[in-house]
Amino acid sequence: MIRICDLHKSYNGQPILKGINLEIAPHELTVIIGPSGTGKSTLLRCLNGLEVFDDGEVFIADIHLKQDKEFHEKIRQIRTRVGMVFQSFHLFPHLTVLENIVRAPIIVKKMERKAAENMARELLYKVGLISHVSHYPSQLSGGQQQRAAIARALAMSPQIMLYDEPTSSLDPGLVDEVLTVMKKLHNEGMTQLVVTHHMQFARDAADKIAYIEDGKVLETSSPQKMFSTPSDERTKKFLKRFI
Ligand SMILES: Nc1ncnc2c1ncn2[C@@H]1O[C@H](COP(=O)(O)OP(=O)(O)OP(=O)(O)O)[C@@H](O)[C@H]1O
Ligand SMILES: [Mg+2]
Repeated sequence: MIRICDLHKSYNGQPILKGINLEIAPHELTVIIGPSGTGKSTLLRCLNGLEVFDDGEVFIADIHLKQDKEFHEKIRQIRTRVGMVFQSFHLFPHLTVLENIVRAPIIVKKMERKAAENMARELLYKVGLISHVSHYPSQLSGGQQQRAAIARALAMSPQIMLYDEPTSSLDPGLVDEVLTVMKKLHNEGMTQLVVTHHMQFARDAADKIAYIEDGKVLETSSPQKMFSTPSDERTKKFLKRFI
């Protein structure tokens, strides 16, 4: 579903991604872990065109992305097939929860308003927010806002969901309600790629964990192996902090 081949990205001449290789199978929940500043967010942003990478190739949701003249058109297609959820929710503050969700399907996918609203209600039911349809983001808790952001991404019927630290701005008590939604989507077969510092979630829910340090994937393995016998010394050192 996603194949990242030798991806390179620099900022102002400073290499950040130094040849990332990673494969994600359909329906898989893959977690990316690694120290701060090692390029995890940059990698996710390259996958949906929020950043332009310098070299390498990405195969994502049946689109082959590389530096060619169709790059920007392909990014446009990717955005309709790949949902993204950020640490700080990014909901539109002046729109109700329902309106936040129906906007993109109506404007981008030309969906009828009635159909979009019905779909939004189903999604809000799924994420446990059906009683908050008419609320504004400021009237919701952080966990509720993040679940609304997930519902908004799902409204485009994505094949893949990307998350960049979806729980790290939440109070500890609100983390589980967001993780539960991601686990539910996993059970339904959604392909998900999650950057997180939440090691318990990685251990419990991931099919696969990729450890990134210094712009490279140093190790990819099952949670069991990653947490019991990581093969790289640097992974071992990083994980020690969480045990
Ligand atoms: N737009 C930008 N311009 C210049 N440098 C940037 C930009 N975005 C990120 N960087 C740099 O790239 C490096 C990797 O950043 P990135 O945000 O990808 O790290 P990260 O692994 O997501 O870290 P964290 O775990 O703290 O979120 C950092 O050194 C950062 O300062
Ligand atoms: Mg980051």
